[in-house]
Amino acid sequence: MKVVSLVGNRPQFVKAAAVSRRLRERHQEVLVHSGQHYDDELSAIFFRELALPPPDRELGVGSGTNADQVTRIMHAFEPVLEEQAPDLTLVYGDTNTTLAGALSCARHGFALAHVEAGMRSFDWAMPEERNRVLADHVSDLCLCSSSVAVENLDREGLGPRARLVGDVMADVSAAMAPVAERESDALERLGVAPGEYVLMTVHRAGNVDREEPLRRLVELLRRLPTHCVFPVHPRTRAALERLGALAELEALAHLHLVPPLGYLDFTKLLMHGAAVLTDSGGVQKEAYLCRVPCLTLRDTTEWTETVELGWNRLVGLDPDRVLAALEHIERPSHHPELYGGGRAGEAIVAELERFAAAGA
Ligand code: UD1
Ligand code: UDP
Repeated sequence: MKVVSLVGNRPQFVKAAAVSRRLRERHQEVLVHSGQHYDDELSAIFFRELALPPPDRELGVGSGTNADQVTRIMHAFEPVLEEQAPDLTLVYGDTNTTLAGALSCARHGFALAHVEAGMRSFDWAMPEERNRVLADHVSDLCLCSSSVAVENLDREGLGPRARLVGDVMADVSAAMAPVAERESDALERLGVAPGEYVLMTVHRAGNVDREEPLRRLVELLRRLPTHCVFPVHPRTRAALERLGALAELEALAHLHLVPPLGYLDFTKLLMHGAAVLTDSGGVQKEAYLCRVPCLTLRDTTEWTETVELGWNRLVGLDPDRVLAALEHIERPSHHPELYGGGRAGEAIVAELERFAAAGA
């Protein structure tokens, strides 16, 4: 079987790390990097740390508006598809790279499998929601992380294409947490003690692109009663600079603003944090997997089971609400296995093989 896998940004490199090597044990994979993320700290470091095979093709599309990115990736990816004529194409998650890969396959009639299919926030204002819904509807195989995702697809009439395989980030988290524990010296480097800081990430367009939510984020950062390690995504750094708030935040003693971190440093900081404050999808899941309480700086989430179990709370960006929640942070005693126990990569390869055999 020949598979073309398309990745392009940070969470997708993490996700592909659970699948690529396993796929290559028995099949041919052509790994294509769209170039949506290109800085070393958002891209190359993940290939190195997670031993992801280097990309076979680099499309080098770079940054732009959502429309620019999707169309540029399609323009560059479609000739690769035609040249490679894969049995299946694999896309991950919900970014512009995902949508571009999915639309390219649909236009040319190539079979498509979508990893992390069926996730829904039901917030159509998020570019990610539009990307994931559109990708699911043109996918031949919808590979789902959780039973909630399968139910979502069922409601949209996509049940027959859905397969519950578990979550690939759970595979990577289980494999890499002990490595991070052993090899990362991030706490010492940043001068924070286990359990005495929170870890924060913010990059959603809805939180940082407009001035009003961004001002609330700045107020929250100022008022945090504890040390906070905050690896700043480039979208957020640019927004804080535009607002004229970056220098003030950098000067605050309780805030540790750092560039985006590699997977090992980030995971070490996550495991030892008192809590994580985030608007990331992947980080909400990893917090659950590492048994760290999460406050999600949004009003919706796709990962609803983590909220229902009490490990994750939706707190939006209102500083009073976030700070009140932080005062009452707790670790529930109940922690069932939610995401496949680290075997999603294996399950995905098996589903791809079944699909290819049925079509042969
Ligand atoms: C994208 C995804 C988002 C995902 C996130 C993961 C979409 C619509 N959004 O958001 O779902 O959660 O990736 O981190 O696809 N930039 C750099 N260096 C880079 C890449 C980007 O400085 O290597 C800067 C550029 O100024 C760019 C901005 O960051 O305009 C935003 O990058 P972009 O890829 O458009 O969106 P993300 O916010 O990263
Ligand atoms: N991550 C990282 N360093 C950071 C921030 C995040 O390695 O400084 C990892 C994190 O562990 C997770 C992934 O990046 O595996 C999440 O990506 P991101 O938050 O950018 O995207 P999302 O999941 O929201 O789409």
